[in-house]
Amino acid sequence: MLSWAVVLLALTMVAMATSPRRTALLDDAEVLATRDDSYRLPETIVPVHYDLQLHPNLEGDFRFNGTVAITLRADHPTVNITFHTSDIDVVEDSVSVTAISKAESALKVTAQTGDEERSFYTVTLDSPLAAKEEYILKMDYHGYHRTTTRGFYRSSYLDRNNNTVWLATTHFEPIGARKAFPCFDEPALKATFNISIAAPKGLHAISNMPASSTELE
Ligand SMILES: *[C@@H]1O[C@H](CO)[C@@H](O)[C@H](O)[C@H]1NC(C)=O
Ligand SMILES: *[C@@H]1O[C@H](CO)[C@@H](O)[C@H](O)[C@H]1NC(C)=O
Ligand SMILES: *[C@@H]1O[C@H](CO)[C@@H](O)[C@H](O)[C@H]1NC(C)=O
Ligand SMILES: *[C@@H]1O[C@H](CO)[C@@H](O)[C@H](O)[C@H]1NC(C)=O
Repeated sequence: MLSWAVVLLALTMVAMATSPRRTALLDDAEVLATRDDSYRLPETIVPVHYDLQLHPNLEGDFRFNGTVAITLRADHPTVNITFHTSDIDVVEDSVSVTAISKAESALKVTAQTGDEERSFYTVTLDSPLAAKEEYILKMDYHGYHRTTTRGFYRSSYLDRNNNTVWLATTHFEPIGARKAFPCFDEPALKATFNISIAAPKGLHAISNMPASSTELE
């Protein structure tokens, strides 16, 4: 008995000693526990409203797509718009920023930078956003219905013929929303949402708010 205990302990210590300190990304609990302010978004930009369109994909690679249009304003002039994405591929060519008062002319985007460690994505403009003016930041993106219960994740059950039936569910708190769509995923940055979801025939979409309209394509 005693020799077994010793062997097990030794193995554990080897595993701890050889596991690299910081190759893995922080998990949710670690991000929340960190007191490092560099994990907070810059306070310059305030989101006002999200228009979100989701196309779930409950087959094959479970890669879904979406389009988000975020109405936002800057507290002071800035060329950088930094928001959260995690496990999301932004379609770079689709990113646009337009002032609501000048909807016909988009601002020029000069760079897009992802920071995986902090779940940041930064869109850089060639001229600064004016303070107090409202802008729309719009982009297409792809995400994944993973089996980890965060973001827009998937789970399954067996039907009466023992076939696997998939469903996609959201779990956003505390930091899962950034896995479902690009957003300013901080408790102080609340905004309104209009969400549309494309449900293939035979599937239902259920929300915690009543549907305002439904159309068939
Ligand atoms: C998203 O997926 C749907 C269904 O596959 C497709 O019709 C649509 O064009 C896709 N949109 C984008 C932006 O990729
Ligand atoms: C804008 O963001 C980029 C990428 O994160 C960074 O390198 C740059 O220093 C930022 N510029 C300003 C003015 O904050
Ligand atoms: C479904 O699987 C269970 C457990 O394996 C089995 O007992 C049951 O007979 C199966 N039902 C059908 C319809 O195949
Ligand atoms: C959100 O949707 C509602 C219902 O369709 C609509 O009345 C409202 O104007 C929309 N809000 C925005 C900001 O688009």
